[in-house]
Amino acid sequence: MTTATTPERGRLIVLEGGEGAGKSTHARGIVDWLQAQGRRVVLTREPGGSPLAEAIRGVVLGDWDEGIDGATEALLIFAARAAHLHARIAPALAAGEDVVCDRFVDASYAYQGAGRGLGMEKIAQLERWTLGELRPDLVLVLDLDPELGLQRAKHRGDINRFEAETLEFARLVRQTYLARAAAAPERYAVIDSSQPRAQVQAAIFKVLQQQLRSVPP
Ligand code: TYD
Repeated sequence: MTTATTPERGRLIVLEGGEGAGKSTHARGIVDWLQAQGRRVVLTREPGGSPLAEAIRGVVLGDWDEGIDGATEALLIFAARAAHLHARIAPALAAGEDVVCDRFVDASYAYQGAGRGLGMEKIAQLERWTLGELRPDLVLVLDLDPELGLQRAKHRGDINRFEAETLEFARLVRQTYLARAAAAPERYAVIDSSQPRAQVQAAIFKVLQQQLRSVPP
């Protein structure tokens, strides 16, 4: 039972998508939308989101002469996720704040499970270990043709290790997001990000209005 001293849990809202899909811009728009509804909101990202997790992000996105194999990459990303969850996400949700996260565990299925070929089961094990029962309330997948996305990312400049990957890798990432969204439509929405930015934003707000209504509070 909820009492005056234990607020309702906040909602975890995640933005996902391949490179160049505009997640960061739209994450800020979602925060503004939620705040306009009177919600308290935390905006964060992965890998990173807390000082320790941001330090691990630096390692994951770094260029190492010896390379980073898929297992090392996945374990570092989940270590960052555990730290982020502990320091920031769980306390915010418990305090009744909504958390808007630029990427979360679906990215590990897409990039490490599919892209790096680790397979879904290994990621599922790490997910169970790190997150327990916690799942996002809503995952917005900003969907874009990988060719267009990689072009946009390169145009933006300063590309990371993942953006430098092959088109085939980017296609696996996209397929994984779409498959996961199709398997749980009550928690996922796929947004066509090839549209002009204002239209993408309008589509996102429509989903927030429709899908968050069914999630408490
Ligand atoms: P970032 O610069 O934030 O990329 P973007 O702006 O495209 O989100 O770098 C994060 C990179 O980390 C991104 O290219 C995808 C990768 N990543 C994974 O491979 N697995 C994960 O679980 C997460 C959260 C991110």
